[in-house]
Formats: sequence, structure tokens, C-alpha cells
Amino acid sequence: MVATVVASLATSLLASSVSHSSPSTTLFFTKLRSSSGLRFSFAVAPLCSRRAKFMAHTIARATLGLTQPANIEHPRISFAAKEIDVAEWKGDILAVGVTEKDMTKDENSKFQNSILKKLDGLLGGLLAEVSSEEDFTGKAGQSTVLRLPGLGSKRVGLIGLGQSVLSPAAFRGLGEAVAAAAKTAQASSVAVALASSEGLSNESKLSTASAIASGTVLGVYEDNRYKSESKKPQLKSVDILGLGTGPDLEKKLKYAEDVSSAIIFGRELVNSPANVLTPAALAAEASKIASSYSDVISATILSAEQCKELKMGSYLGVAAASANPPHFIHLCYKPPSGPIKAKLALVGKGLTFDSGGYNIKTGVGCSIELMKTDMGGSAAVLGAAKALGQIKPPGVEVHFIVASCENMISGTGMRPGDIITASNGKTIEVNNTDAEGRLTLADALVYACNQGVEKIVDLATLTGACVVALGPSIAGVFTPSDNLAKEVFEASEVSGEKFWRMPLEESYWESMKSGVADMVNTGGRQGGAITAALFLKQFVDEKVQWMHIDLAGPVWNDKKRVATGFGISTLVEWVLKNSS
Ligand code: BES
Ligand code: MN
Ligand code: ZN
Repeated sequence: MVATVVASLATSLLASSVSHSSPSTTLFFTKLRSSSGLRFSFAVAPLCSRRAKFMAHTIARATLGLTQPANIEHPRISFAAKEIDVAEWKGDILAVGVTEKDMTKDENSKFQNSILKKLDGLLGGLLAEVSSEEDFTGKAGQSTVLRLPGLGSKRVGLIGLGQSVLSPAAFRGLGEAVAAAAKTAQASSVAVALASSEGLSNESKLSTASAIASGTVLGVYEDNRYKSESKKPQLKSVDILGLGTGPDLEKKLKYAEDVSSAIIFGRELVNSPANVLTPAALAAEASKIASSYSDVISATILSAEQCKELKMGSYLGVAAASANPPHFIHLCYKPPSGPIKAKLALVGKGLTFDSGGYNIKTGVGCSIELMKTDMGGSAAVLGAAKALGQIKPPGVEVHFIVASCENMISGTGMRPGDIITASNGKTIEVNNTDAEGRLTLADALVYACNQGVEKIVDLATLTGACVVALGPSIAGVFTPSDNLAKEVFEASEVSGEKFWRMPLEESYWESMKSGVADMVNTGGRQGGAITAALFLKQFVDEKVQWMHIDLAGPVWNDKKRVATGFGISTLVEWVLKNSS
């Protein structure tokens, strides 16, 4: 069907080149033929009418648009909290999370931990045997799974949690290991228990159960939308044993499910290639969130013309080269009822592709082919919107803002050396078109301040320098506000995501001065993540508490070659902290 459309477009394009051909076109056509011997297919090139250009774009879009993500149904995994004896449980895999301390054995090589002792007894000492044979000591990342005859559970697994002090990240890791074991065994039902859960407070039982649940969901998930064939995940039910039961736990598990599905949504946005996820497609995804949660979320999408009226010359400068027009996205969350006590904004960098522009990305390790990930900040922001649309926290208004566009090269594009003017009137000499994210964020931050918010967090895959400083799994945090830093770091304790606060060293602003404009957009190589943050600061009201998060490292998992969904769980936690 689609192929037919393309073919007929190509035919009409050829036809139009014949019917519209002017004398000069014909001349060029003839020249082309005599000098190179190339024919027909090149005959359209000199036809520079707007119509031909439009048709060429339409064809390119239709062709690149032949790739569409498959609509894959992900069967929901159901979670149930149960207080039954591990020995009584029936199903495919019983997984027990053990610390190094749990693995200590007495002088007869028997477990001291009561749950392990009981299971080992039922298995005739197999568990103790296999753990010493395989040198399983309970370290994080270790696991061993046994296939057994004649027990309620087909398999029993031990999963290492590391030393005895445990974090949400460790329990998320447990969930991921359970998911891996379930995949290997093609299990449809699993149970998870901890060798020692008796000592835990009620509060930590809740957070442990929810961390296990989200680790399992995210571990099972594979993005197969762009593969022509894929295996369906088998896992359907997970029983969480020994961590309590009741409405509080169920609420917490529902919360874990809401955040996990938002993380999956965010990962899918980032995994999608730039020929599919254009600024228009990103805006359509945002509108979809608003219509799914229309009781609490509304959407405003601004066109290039509307942004021009708002004088967003900095953002529009970046967008100027692309055939895919920019879309400025603004979602607003308002609680279903009750007074609003805090107004927040989340601003995300939304470059659906970053070629670098005229300062094209050519250097070794510049990873131009990974620059579809340059909308990772916006994926975090829209992911958070989706989760909050489901959770509906009271007492807080949240604005989600993304100035989405593509950084490309063409005759209409911004040149190195151009001076552009942002919506707050400040002028910028663009000494590097590859420092484009900050240019889009400048207008987005001005817009966010105009919403009357008290706090802004922006997230951006902003600099390679931040990846050099902190490596692939830690995001850089820049803020003049100790209060905001405290709030976000507390949120990250719960989410388990890794952040590190960096200095906003004002003396480095020296390198950002221009001879002819208010500033340049790029300082030297040194302290590149810091000068980028100082640039953003120029566009934020001093009254507003503001934080910039550079997630260029953690947005992508290099080993698995997929997106991580980084930022979403921390943002949701932070918004909930500000709700009442
Ligand atoms: N999108 C890149 C930053 C980036 C680099 C993201 C690596 C993910 C992985 C950003 O737009 C960029 O190109 N930054 C430049 C800034 C420089 C020109 C001052 C960079 O980091 O090289
Ligand atoms: Mn760039
Ligand atoms: Zn970029």
C-alpha cells in the first residue's frame, strides 16, 4: 500500500519535471546528459521550483517513513504480595535474594540463615553444595538456578544482593536478575523472597517490594518494535513473599507499575530513530498523554510561527535547517481537586537528531549515529508527565516543556558566526552550531519562567564534557540552590539513579564573552559542562530555584545498545515531595 504511494509520487514527480520544464531547465538537462551520461533520474535536480522541492521532501519522508514501529502488546505482569512459607509455594521459579552475610555457613558447612537452612533441608543439601561448588557467596550480580524434581517449585534460584546494607538499587537489581532467570527458563510464574526480611521495618518492606517489582518489569521488557521477528515474554505473575500484604503494599506496587510503564515509554521514545521520531511525532506523543489523562493534563503545541511571535530566535535558529518543522511542547498538570501549593516546571532538551549543523560531528567518538538520543531530556520529562497523569498527586501544578527540533544542515540553516536573539532579548553569537541544545533550552527556560513557577528542573543530553567528567552512568547536577539540590538528591535516594553535584563556577563565564553580542554559545574545551550550565543560567529569573541535569552519559546503555529511561523515576519522586 505504502509502496504504491511512493511509486506514484515518483511518477508524478517525473511527470511534473516534463510538464513544467522551462528552457533553462532543459538546457541544464541536456548539459547533464552530455557531460556525465546520467539521465532521467537527475533531470529533476535543476528543477528548483517550490513544488519540486516539496515533492522531493515528500518522497524522502515517505521513503524514510517506511519504517514504522510495530504495535507490540506487552502482557502485563501481575504482582501479588503473599505471606506464605517459601517451601509451600508452587510455580516455575522460586528466587531467594541473599546477602553475603546470609551465605555464612557453620562448621558443618550448613547454612545458619533459617530460610536457606529449610530449603537446603528439603533439597537434601543441594543448595549448600552448589553454592560452594560454584563459589556463590551472595555478591551482587551473582546468581545460580537449580532445576529440581518433585518440589512445588520447578526451579530454585539464589540471587546475590551484595553486603548486608541494602539500597533500592540493590533490590531493583534483584528484580532484574529474577527477570533474566525467568527469560532463560521461559518461566511464566515466579516468586521472590529475601533470605532475611524479618528485620525490615514496614516502610522498608514497602519500598523493597516496589523496587523488586519495577526491576522485574523493566528487566523483562525488550524493545522489539523495530525487529521483524521477536519472542514474546512469558512471565505473567510474580509473587512477593514475606514482605507483608495489604492496601499499603498494593498501593506501592501500583505506583511501581505506573513509574515502570512511564520508564518503558521514555525508553521507546529514545530508542526510536530520528526518521520516525520527528519533532511532530514527539509532539503527537505529548498530545496523546494529554488526551489519555485529560482530567489532569492539558497540552499546548506551538508552531514555528507561534514561536516566532514569542520571539524565540535562539530555538528557531537551531530548527532553521531542518525539513521537519519544530514543535514547542507544553503540557500542564493540575490536580483533580484542592488548592495548589507548589508550581514546578520540568524542561527537557528535545533534539530528535543532532548532526552538529555546520560544525558537523566528524571527530572520532563524536557518535553522530547515536544522536537520536539527543531528546533524552524530553523523554524524561514526558515520561514523568505520563506517570503523574496516572498517579494524580494533590497540591502541585507541573509544567512540562520541550522546545523540540532537529539540528541539521541546509541553505536555510544557521551559520557559525550568526548572531541570534532569544525571547528574553539577549543576543548570542553562535561560535559553534553543535552547541545547539543550550540554544533551544534558552527559549524554553524563558517560557518556563513566564509560567510563574517557583522551581525549574531542566534535563538535557547537553555535553560530551559531562560524560568525560562523570562517565556513562552518572548525571551531572548544576544548581545555585542548596534547597533544590537537597530535594532532588533525596528523590534520587529512593529512585536509585545516580547524580553528582558539579560547581557553577562563575569565573568561567569569562570564556563565554563575545566581542559583538551578549555572549557566545561555546567556551573552550575546559570545563565544558560547567560553561554550558552557566549559559543556561542567563535565561532563568533569579527568583526561581533552578537546576540543570546533564544526562548525556546515563541516557544510553552502551552495552545493551538501548535507552535507559534515565531521570523519570527521580523526577516523579521529586514532584511527589512537592505535593501535599
Ligand atoms: N548532543 C550533544 C552532547 C552529547 C554528546 C550527547 C555525547 C550525548 C553524547 C551536544 O549538542 C553537543 O554537541 N555538545 C558539544 C558542545 C560543544 C560544541 C561545546 C560537545 O559536547 O561536544
Ligand atoms: Mn550538538
Ligand atoms: Zn545536542
